[in-house]
Amino acid sequence: MAKLHLITYGCQMNEYDSERVAGLLGNLQYDLTDREEDADLILLNTCAIREKAEEKVFSRLGQLRRLKAKNPNLVIGIMGCMAQLQQGAILERAPMVDLVFGSPAIARVGELVERAKRERGPVLETREGPLTKLTGNVPRPDRLKAFVTVMEGCDKFCTFCVVPLTRGRERSHTPESILAEVRGLAEQGYREVTFLGQNVNAYGKDLAPPTDLAALIERVNDVEGVERIRFTTSNPVNLTSRLIRALRDVPKACESLHLPLQSGSDRILARMNRGYTRARYLALIAELKETVPGIALSTDLIVGFPGESEEDFEATVDMVEQVGYDSLFAFRYSPRPRTPAAGFADQVPEADKARRLSRLLEVANRIGAQRNLALVGRVMELLVDGLSKKDPRELSGRTRCNRAVNFDGQGRRLYGELVNVRITQAMPHSLRGTLVPAEAPAPLSSEGPPKEALCGLR
Ligand code: SAH
Ligand code: F3S
Repeated sequence: MAKLHLITYGCQMNEYDSERVAGLLGNLQYDLTDREEDADLILLNTCAIREKAEEKVFSRLGQLRRLKAKNPNLVIGIMGCMAQLQQGAILERAPMVDLVFGSPAIARVGELVERAKRERGPVLETREGPLTKLTGNVPRPDRLKAFVTVMEGCDKFCTFCVVPLTRGRERSHTPESILAEVRGLAEQGYREVTFLGQNVNAYGKDLAPPTDLAALIERVNDVEGVERIRFTTSNPVNLTSRLIRALRDVPKACESLHLPLQSGSDRILARMNRGYTRARYLALIAELKETVPGIALSTDLIVGFPGESEEDFEATVDMVEQVGYDSLFAFRYSPRPRTPAAGFADQVPEADKARRLSRLLEVANRIGAQRNLALVGRVMELLVDGLSKKDPRELSGRTRCNRAVNFDGQGRRLYGELVNVRITQAMPHSLRGTLVPAEAPAPLSSEGPPKEALCGLR
């Protein structure tokens, strides 16, 4: 058996793609290894979303150079978003790379590796290609929760973002192929699926006949064995009342939503080409909170976008306060090649970005901690997924709204089980609870609180 060392950077979609590559190469007698020095083939699945992500890859390539010097038969390949965006820079800065291929070529990874072994000089394969659903023989790190890509690409062209350049146009997988994948996962014992797409709530518009994410969630709800359905990342522009109602009405749809805001200033939102205003976003939040009381909300924010004044930034802080996010990701704006915003004249100094980022995180942490504190005393349903990171004698699980809760499992084997826990203590990033005996009314039973009470905070 040959040995494959796979290094994955970036988003969940990259993790999903890496699993597929490991599966396809596994069929061709490549065994995964954790040790790069044992590998015959090293693949780096890369991210290009911010400059920092790319720098990590280049520095790793620098370290791998010595392995190649020791073992000239070693094949080193780059896949993922940098393959698409930075082909020239890769060949210039890391000439020992043998293979560069984009996500459309993943289905042909075996053939490409063979070519790279045969041919001298790098094999490049970064054209657009047909959409293929790759399933079967996929080694996954977790036997409980799985990602399922439901659509590829993005058509939105936000002025800061490389995704439309690296992942191509929006293309949805058919509901049948997704259902088949989810049924296969359920048979293997998986209990939670997360649908992935860069713009996941635009799902199905391009299919014939067209369909939508709400319809997909309804169909997957019928798959026995799967208990929880999540999806990410949603775009405010495509958030429909139908999808919001599905979060309330479809039993297995979890009551949480990641809804990237990016900025709270209308002027900056327009320059970002986001397609909504602050008022429209707030109207969506009001509808979400009213329809799905207690819903957990999270977001992505960018600080220091070109032209962002202190006043614009304060508008973002104000939105964080008004919405009351449970958690958020905040990034310093990073100019990306071939994106319009990189050419905007009024770039913000790095020191201002850093200051704004730390202030934003301070506010977000305070609000997240308050939201956690308000859960103390509630009974919540957990999917037990392992041991507590802080204390391995304790078990850990996630609520339907994706909060981590640690609890004393009283020596029971509960991995993969749904249990009820009463929240006893709130820490900034996690909760502690105690098991509620099985005979106590379960939140999902007919006498229990309605579905929307599961995430608390009414
Ligand atoms: N599809 C998602 C975004 C995917 S990229 C959406 O609808 O918004 C993940 C996050 O990275 C984005 O939400 C954004 O906050 C951040 N990001 C993207 N490009 C960036 C850049 N050039 N600089 C800093 N952050 C960026
Ligand atoms: Fe990027 Fe905007 Fe699409 S952030 S992924 S271009 S919605």
